[in-house]
Amino acid sequence: MKGFIAIFIVASISLITYSTFLSNHSGGFPDSPDKNIISFNHDSEFICDETNVSHILFGISGSVKTWNQRRQYSELWWKNEITRGFVWLDEKPATNMTWPEMSPPYKVSEDTSRFKYTSAYGSRSAVRIARIVKESFQLGLENVRWFVMGDDDTVFFVENLVTVLGKYDHNEMYYIGGNSESVEQDVIHSYTMAYGGGGFAISYPLAAELVRVLDGCIDRYASFYGSDQKIGGCMNEIGVPVTKELGFHQVDIRGDPYGLLAAHPVAPLVSLHHLDYVQPVFPGLTRIDSLKKLVQAYKLDPGRTLQHTFCYDPSSKWSLSVSWGYTAQLYPSLITAKDLATAFQTFVTWRSWSRGPFAFNTRLMSPDPCKRPAIYFLDRVHSIGAGQTVTTYKRFWAGPGKECGQEEYGSALPAMYINVTAAELEPDTWKKARRRQCCEIVNGSTAEANGLVQVRIRSCSRWESVTPAYGR
Ligand SMILES: *[C@@H]1O[C@H](CO)[C@@H](O)[C@H](O)[C@H]1NC(C)=O
Ligand SMILES: *[C@@H]1O[C@H](CO)[C@@H](O)[C@H](O)[C@H]1NC(C)=O
Ligand SMILES: *[C@@H]1O[C@H](CO)[C@@H](O)[C@H](O)[C@H]1NC(C)=O
Ligand SMILES: *[C@@H]1O[C@H](CO)[C@@H](O)[C@H](O)[C@H]1NC(C)=O
Ligand SMILES: *[C@@H]1O[C@H](CO)[C@@H](O)[C@H](O)[C@H]1NC(C)=O
Repeated sequence: MKGFIAIFIVASISLITYSTFLSNHSGGFPDSPDKNIISFNHDSEFICDETNVSHILFGISGSVKTWNQRRQYSELWWKNEITRGFVWLDEKPATNMTWPEMSPPYKVSEDTSRFKYTSAYGSRSAVRIARIVKESFQLGLENVRWFVMGDDDTVFFVENLVTVLGKYDHNEMYYIGGNSESVEQDVIHSYTMAYGGGGFAISYPLAAELVRVLDGCIDRYASFYGSDQKIGGCMNEIGVPVTKELGFHQVDIRGDPYGLLAAHPVAPLVSLHHLDYVQPVFPGLTRIDSLKKLVQAYKLDPGRTLQHTFCYDPSSKWSLSVSWGYTAQLYPSLITAKDLATAFQTFVTWRSWSRGPFAFNTRLMSPDPCKRPAIYFLDRVHSIGAGQTVTTYKRFWAGPGKECGQEEYGSALPAMYINVTAAELEPDTWKKARRRQCCEIVNGSTAEANGLVQVRIRSCSRWESVTPAYGR
C-alpha cells in the first residue's frame, strides 16, 4: 500500500511538471532539468502519459493544382475532429474554390524564392516542402510531441503510427521512418534519410533543433533533389540517425505491389505511398476502392493488418500463408517458413524498372501455374464479438490457361474460400519483443469441407514453430 501511494505521488508530481512543460514547450530538451522526472514518469508507466493521436501534428505537402485528385488519399485516413495538422499549399486556392470538407485544413507555405536549388532533374518545390516542418513548428501549437511529415499521396494508418511512436520517448531526439525499397534509390538519395513519401516522424526536441539549422541546410544541400534528402542532410549535421521502423512504406516500386504487401515484416503497417504508380492493391477494383477495402479490415484490427502467419496441414501436406486483411496463399506442398516469408517479386525497381536489387529478399513467381500457390484475396470482414474477427478470402482465378489443372493441384483446388478467425491484436503486443503469430488449419483439408478452409490465428504455444513434421 505504501509503495502504491509513493508511486501515486511521484506520478502526480510528474504530471504537474509535465503540464508545465507542455504549456510553454520549455522542457524536454536533453539538458532540461525536468528530464529526470519525466523519465521516471515514463518508467512508472503512468497511463496518462501515453502518446495518443492528439500529440501528433501532421504536415502534408500538397499543391493547389493536384489537391483535387490527390485528396482522395489523405481523406482515407484524415478525421477532422481527431487528427491534427495541415496540408501545405504552394498558393492560396482560387476564391471560387470551396475547400473540401473532408480534407485536412490548409495553410499556404511561405515564399522560398530566396533559397538556392540546383538539382538539375528535380523541382524547386522541394525547398518549400522541406520547410513544412519548420513552419509547422512555428505555429507553436500546444501538446505536440511528434511532427509527422507525409505527401499528399501518403496513406497513414494512424492507430498504428500512434502505437509505433508510443514506443519512443518524445522528450528525446528521434527521427523515425524508412528507406526506399529500391536499392538504386537508396544509393542515389541516401540510406541515412527517412523517405518523405513513406512519411517520417520527428520528436519535439529534435524539431526544435532542426528548425534552428534548416534554412542553412537548404542552401548547403541545394544540389539535393528531394525535400526529404535536404532534411536528411540536416539530420547528419545534428547527428541524429534515422530510427528505421519497418511499417513505413515509400513504395518505390513499379508493377504489382502484391508481393511486397503479402510479405509484410513483423511490424505494424504505418503507411503506404505511390499508390497511383502501382497496380491496384486488389484485382478488379480501382486503386481507391482497393484501399477502402484494405481499410475495412484495418478498422477491425489495426495492429494485425497485413500481418503474416503460416501453417501446415499435416494430413494433406498443405502450406498456408495468410497476410491478414489482404490475401492468403495455399500451396499443395510443404514450403519452408523462410520461403513463405520472402516476397514474391511481382514488381520492378522505381527508377530503372529493373528486376532488382531491393532492400529485402525476393523470390520469383513461377510462370508455371502448378508451381504457384492458389491465391485468395480478402472478400469480407466481420466482427463476431468477444474481440474476435472472421476475415474471408476468396480464390482468385487468373484466367484460362493461367491456372493449374485439378490433377496436378490435388485436393487444394476445390477450396473456394478461406475463413480466418483471429482475436484483435492488442496494441501493447507491439511494445514487446516481436514475434509472428501462429495459425492452425481447423477444417477444410478434406473433401467434405465444401470448398471452405477454416483457419485460426493465435499466439504461438510454448515450443511451437513453423516446422514441417518430417525431418526434425
Ligand atoms: C514556462 O512556464 C512556467 C510556468 O507556466 C514558467 O515558470 C517558466 O518560466 C516558463 N518557461 C519559459 C521558457 O517560458
Ligand atoms: C491524449 O492524451 C492527453 C494527455 O496527454 C489527454 O488529455 C487526451 O484526452 C488524450 N486524447 C485522446 C484522444 O485520447
Ligand atoms: C474558378 O474561376 C476560374 C476563372 O476565374 C475558372 O477557370 C474555374 O473554372 C472556376 N472554378 C470553379 C470551381 O468554379
Ligand atoms: C465464413 O465467413 C463468412 C463471413 O465472412 C460467413 O458468412 C460464413 O458463415 C463463414 N463460414 C464459416 C463456416 O464460419
Ligand atoms: C469441419 O467440417 C465438417 C463438415 O462441414 C463439420 O461437420 C465439422 O463440424 C467441422 N469441424 C470443425 C472443428 O469446425
